[in-house]
Amino acid sequence: MKELSLAFIGFGVVGRGLAELLIEKRDMLKSKFNLNVKVVGICDLKWGSIANDDGIDLEKALKLVDSGKKLDEYDAPARKGLSSVEIIRETSSNTIIEVTWTNIETGEPGLTHIREALSLGKHVATTNKGPIALAYKELTSLAQAKNVKLKFEGTVLSGTPTFNLSWTCLAALDIKRIRGILNGTTNFILTEMEKGLSYDEALRKAQELGYAEADPTLDVDGWDAAAKAAILANVLMGGDLKPKAIDRRGIRGISVDEVLKASKQGFKLKLIAEVWREKGEVKARVSPTPIPAQDVLAGVSGVLNAITFETDALGEVTIIGAGAGRRPTGYALLNDLLSIARDL
Ligand SMILES: NC(=O)c1ccc[n+]([C@@H]2O[C@H](COP(=O)([O-])OP(=O)(O)OC[C@H]3O[C@@H](n4cnc5c(N)ncnc54)[C@H](OP(=O)(O)O)[C@@H]3O)[C@@H](O)[C@H]2O)c1
Repeated sequence: MKELSLAFIGFGVVGRGLAELLIEKRDMLKSKFNLNVKVVGICDLKWGSIANDDGIDLEKALKLVDSGKKLDEYDAPARKGLSSVEIIRETSSNTIIEVTWTNIETGEPGLTHIREALSLGKHVATTNKGPIALAYKELTSLAQAKNVKLKFEGTVLSGTPTFNLSWTCLAALDIKRIRGILNGTTNFILTEMEKGLSYDEALRKAQELGYAEADPTLDVDGWDAAAKAAILANVLMGGDLKPKAIDRRGIRGISVDEVLKASKQGFKLKLIAEVWREKGEVKARVSPTPIPAQDVLAGVSGVLNAITFETDALGEVTIIGAGAGRRPTGYALLNDLLSIARDL
């Protein structure tokens, strides 16, 4: 039987989403994929840190944190209090799950964690946009040099297959342009505004439902979509764009009149991220864009995300699905783990 031994760096929404799926699908992973997944370390700034090379009782750890208790209360054998870098260095993990928060200016702390893990010859699966948006080329070169895998399916459209689809089924196509609704919060706000809510009312509703942060800047000013556009540009179209360099306009300040006027004229106003090639150069832009009603992206409402690939042989191919959430994003990591295990 193949075995992956994991260390979680970050045990928030997404880390626990993966933990839940690993518990739920443990028997299936063994019977269908001949794969045993052992967890040897968990480290989170908020919840604490436990490590045991013989394996951590994942149910116990998940139950503690889901009930708001710290890992200090974990009552099975474990080393406690190791830092994130110590967990990466000192456990017998062969795969690091990097799920700390995203910083699109520095990539930290994820960048340090991923560099450290790859340098030690450990595989990495991450949903952290910062390191991939800022240092994709450096990190993939390091992974290749160390003969390990760096997987990041969940950085764009969470578990809805974007990179795995592109690298397999779309691999021999020339992707000419990518257009996407990459941020669920802003799509929810715009959808609510189509029903007549003001920007402020729609934002408040998104916050009440847990779709938007108390400080919604990253979403409403288009930063999150710009980070994802940079990842798509650099990974799928060979670009070298940083999120900050992308021509970007968010939805802050859009009036309900603008949204309703677009609707009356047969358009839906959407925050669209676009990546394309122009005179050999890869370019990207994020902006509120009127989309004709017959375009498939016009029908993507609420928190759903979507990407349309414009290709040479297949024409337009669109994927629509979840763009965030505990289980969908946890699933992206599970899918990454299967891909790592395939070559073990
Ligand atoms: N949630 C989603 O639906 C979703 C979807 C796609 C991608 N992502 C990305 O996935 C990543 C994880 O998201 P999330 O929703 O799980 O975030 P989260 O709930 O905030 O969890 C992140 C956890 O990492 C901890 N942390 C921060 N720095 C750390 C460090 N140096 N060492 C150890 N732990 C550290 C945080 O502790 P503190 O709270 O004390 O800082 C927090 O508990 C983010 O990069 C996010 O952008 C999330």
